[in-house]
Amino acid sequence: MAGEHVLTVDDDPAIRELVSDVLTSAGMVVKQAGNCAEARQKVQAGFRGVMVLDVRLPDGLGPDLMVDLAKIAPDNPVILLTSYTSTTLALESIQHGAFDFIDKTRLVERLVDTVRGAWQAYRAAVVGNASLPSAFDTMITRSAAMRTLFRSLEHALDSKVPVLVRGESGTGKELIARAVHAGGPRRDGPFVAVNCAGIPDQLLEAELFGYEKGAFTGAANRKLGRFDLARGGTLLLDEIGEMDPSLQAKLLRVLQEGEYQRLGGVETLKADVRLVSATNRNLEDEVKRGRFREDLYYRLAVFTVDLPPLRERHGDIRLLSEHFLRKSAAEEGKSVRDVGPMALEVLESFSFPGNVRQLENVIAHAVVSAPGRSVRIADFPASFRRAVQLERGDKGTPIGAPARVSGPPQSSPWDVAADQPFPTLAQVERQMVHAAIARADGNKAEAARLLGISRMTLYRKLG
Ligand SMILES: Nc1ncnc2c1ncn2[C@@H]1O[C@H](COP(=O)(O)OP(=O)(O)OP(=O)(O)O)[C@@H](O)[C@H]1O
Ligand SMILES: [Mg+2]
Repeated sequence: MAGEHVLTVDDDPAIRELVSDVLTSAGMVVKQAGNCAEARQKVQAGFRGVMVLDVRLPDGLGPDLMVDLAKIAPDNPVILLTSYTSTTLALESIQHGAFDFIDKTRLVERLVDTVRGAWQAYRAAVVGNASLPSAFDTMITRSAAMRTLFRSLEHALDSKVPVLVRGESGTGKELIARAVHAGGPRRDGPFVAVNCAGIPDQLLEAELFGYEKGAFTGAANRKLGRFDLARGGTLLLDEIGEMDPSLQAKLLRVLQEGEYQRLGGVETLKADVRLVSATNRNLEDEVKRGRFREDLYYRLAVFTVDLPPLRERHGDIRLLSEHFLRKSAAEEGKSVRDVGPMALEVLESFSFPGNVRQLENVIAHAVVSAPGRSVRIADFPASFRRAVQLERGDKGTPIGAPARVSGPPQSSPWDVAADQPFPTLAQVERQMVHAAIARADGNKAEAARLLGISRMTLYRKLG
């Protein structure tokens, strides 16, 4: 399983190598950059994880780079490497969100622990849970159901047992299949997907098993099948429920015997793939109705994963919106920073029949349309606004109208009864921090958002 991801940015190749060696020996995955431009490029290209920055770089200062990169990857924690001349600068950077700094004279002793701490903070911010198996890093979620699912699936990663992923369209079935591949021993082999619904029945067989030259009219050359291409890796049979019964029988035979032949071929080939199948149909129902072979079903569904629809993991809407917003803004070079409160309210009230993919598309559209820094309801695609309206029914308030009228003025919740000791600001702050964490179900990034402070500041307040 891949470990912590780290980017070391230093113009001195000796320091880069040192950082890289020390961290790699601790099981981490380390990338290097020699200046600000290179670092920016790596983060733009998707680097997410801990960044270890030198304070003085040939084309700028580490702390400035930090502020700059935070626009692209706000959750990447930054550790600054300082020498005695730059300690003040480093202390200042902590105020501006750096995770920590390390004096270069103590680099080797402090590096691993500091990076581990930063990684934990990163994981907590991105997924809301520090101890998630990292094979599922690509999946943004804070849903308890999803985390339970990851944990149970983790047990299946190292084996070759077939996995069946069920879930509505757009729930992340393919992403899970890729995680199963990336988290297991076949991760260096190929990942090959075939969509059983997208290919006509007769062609699907040739697509899966390949054919030899002259197997049928038009077969001018040998063609490798997906079983060939996925050898040593993972084969995703997507929309398996759509497979036609005669091909189901052939696939079953291959799975039973572990062997196959190309069409028109005589050579027996070993089916050396890990199978993951995905379906948005209820396969058990299909089995009962006689549309899907029961014996094949049991072969494919040795380990079954049920992905909950987005509407059942409510907290994920905000988290995913922020994720997709950052991604689109970086791709489009736009300075959109967040989803405005009203727009978020609309997103969170919607049922998302198209699940995560639909949310991703809505946000991508909004980022392109948004003239300002916050996404507004008007920036959503018209079709989406209509869908929201329809779902709310005619009784619904038009979207964008204030949700409720404020009631009579209330006494401030902060009034302190005369006979009570007056709390210090520090006490109030501590209480509010803990209240926010409780409200956010332990999700620190969410708690920081509620408090209107940066996550790094929250961590400092927690000591
Ligand atoms: N938890 C998640 N975190 C981040 N991105 C996600 C998550 N779930 C899904 N996505 C993204 O949403 C999109 C749809 O996911 P994916 O293709 O895996 O879904 P699917 O269930 O295979 O959909 P379909 O049934 O339509 O084939 C992809 O762009 C994927 O990267
Ligand atoms: Mg899919």
